Amino acid sequence: MLVVTDSQVDRWTDKAALCPSVLPMTEADIDSAVDLVRSAMNTAEAEQARTTFILHFGCARHGIDDGRIYFVAAVESVTLGVVGLHRYVWGPPENIWLAWFAVDPNLKGLGFGQTLFQFASERAQQLGHRKLFVETYSTPEFAAARSFYQKMGMVPGGIITPYLPCGGNMIVYYKELTKM
Ligand SMILES: CC(C)(COP(=O)(O)OP(=O)(O)OC[C@H]1O[C@@H](n2cnc3c(N)ncnc32)[C@H](O)[C@@H]1OP(=O)(O)O)[C@@H](O)C(=O)NCCC(=O)NCCS
Repeated sequence: MLVVTDSQVDRWTDKAALCPSVLPMTEADIDSAVDLVRSAMNTAEAEQARTTFILHFGCARHGIDDGRIYFVAAVESVTLGVVGLHRYVWGPPENIWLAWFAVDPNLKGLGFGQTLFQFASERAQQLGHRKLFVETYSTPEFAAARSFYQKMGMVPGGIITPYLPCGGNMIVYYKELTKM
């Protein structure tokens, strides 16, 4: 995958008409997925994502199921979105967590987030999960995410305060997957 830059996305004049393919992430996608998380969120989140991806693919190479799967949405080999599903191997098997969910900032508000959310929800259901959770934060940079999750039918399920180094809270949203 190529690293997303403004110029790569800008070459598509009708961005709303783009029809990304959503494919399982490979090790070759790590850099572009990390860059996307950096541009959509921040550097700290991006480096945490890189650590998670490296751990995941390292486990896979050794035949270890870490309970995580990742997907990238791409057009012409340009990564436009990333989404993961995390199952805690020690947790109830019906529970699944949305993870590292991001859309290229140049493509916000065009429905790609909703498409990726629906894809991940359907995949989670196919895998037998019934409860979808996501961890987000109370800080201003996650305001769009909070509105988005509520638009997707998720409801606040809990708050951990304080959670972030800056003092922001963790907010967990929740949705029963049977209510698609
Ligand atoms: C959250 C995110 C994935 C949404 O993706 P997106 O492609 O912009 O969202 P969509 O265009 O599919 O929007 C779907 C609905 O969500 C809501 N929504 C999306 N962005 C919103 C915003 N900034 N403010 C309010 N509502 C918003 C809208 O109701 C929208 O429906 P509408 O178009 O009918 O009004 C994207 O903003 C993003 O990548 N944010 C940065 C990364 C991030 O915070 N990820 C989550 C970490 S927990």
